[in-house]
Amino acid sequence: MCDATKADSGNAAGIIKISAPSYKSLNYLCGMLKETLIKATNEAAKVLTAYFNQPLVITHKEGVNNLVTEADHKSEAVIIGIIKESFPGHHILTEESGDLSQESEYKWIIDPIDGTVNFANGLPICCVSIGIEHRGKMIMGAVYNPFMNEFFFAERGAGATLNDKPIHVSEKSEAMKSCLATGFPYTYLDMPNGPLGVFSRLIRKGIPVRRLGSAAIDLCWVAAGRFDGFYEHKLQAWDSAAGIVIVEEAGGRVTDLKGNEYSPYQPGIIATNGRIHDELCRWINTEVEM
Ligand code: IPD
Ligand code: CA
Ligand code: CA
Repeated sequence: MCDATKADSGNAAGIIKISAPSYKSLNYLCGMLKETLIKATNEAAKVLTAYFNQPLVITHKEGVNNLVTEADHKSEAVIIGIIKESFPGHHILTEESGDLSQESEYKWIIDPIDGTVNFANGLPICCVSIGIEHRGKMIMGAVYNPFMNEFFFAERGAGATLNDKPIHVSEKSEAMKSCLATGFPYTYLDMPNGPLGVFSRLIRKGIPVRRLGSAAIDLCWVAAGRFDGFYEHKLQAWDSAAGIVIVEEAGGRVTDLKGNEYSPYQPGIIATNGRIHDELCRWINTEVEM
């Protein structure tokens, strides 16, 4: 069930006590949010498909290879148009158009193409990623990679799905036997326990650490049990907004790099099946080779 219902009317025990009309209207709102989210994700994915492997107009952002293509802009315009048709008063935060601020309890957080470098190089590991936040909490997320025909979706309290089938995180409990994923920022991040230091530490232990090039897909693959964990040092809200609710609804755990409660508005993330979380967090935060 959409979290709006719980947030507005749940009690400490999580039991929902609301009158029939307000329950009905909240249910209706959640249905509309879901419908709009799925429509926007699907329509934007059609843009990715149309532009894939075609000559692209490419511009550059901060960093040497931080690209933005005409497909990113087109995908984002399609998403914003669809959201505004149904929810003209909602706050929208996007990667390419920035903060389209409105006084609203609802915020749509959009990455029109996550994995743009892959996309621009014809690598089919990229996606549309859209999350919905209500009163500061992520309540719904959709991540769609049309090139693998994989549509991940989650609604707070209702589980996570891949192509409408329930998904769950892996059951592996030994971090030493885990398969991990990470990503690297476009500009080198020189800090203690930074991306290269942690990567080298894990690789020296003999742990496989993959780098797909799309944080949203990394998170969904943790949710689907393909990876046991994912960490990254410098993400933006649009990279993780949808993925975090998908991981949590699949039974996983998401924190910042120190193991504290996660916020998409700070850079670091650890997302795991829960079982290996504390150990991975310790490995990331020690400067001593283990
Ligand atoms: C990037 C991808 C990548 C991650 C970068 C992100 P973009 O997003 O998610 O996996 O390592 O930190 O910026 O630029 O492709 O939308
Ligand atoms: Ca991104
Ligand atoms: Ca992007």
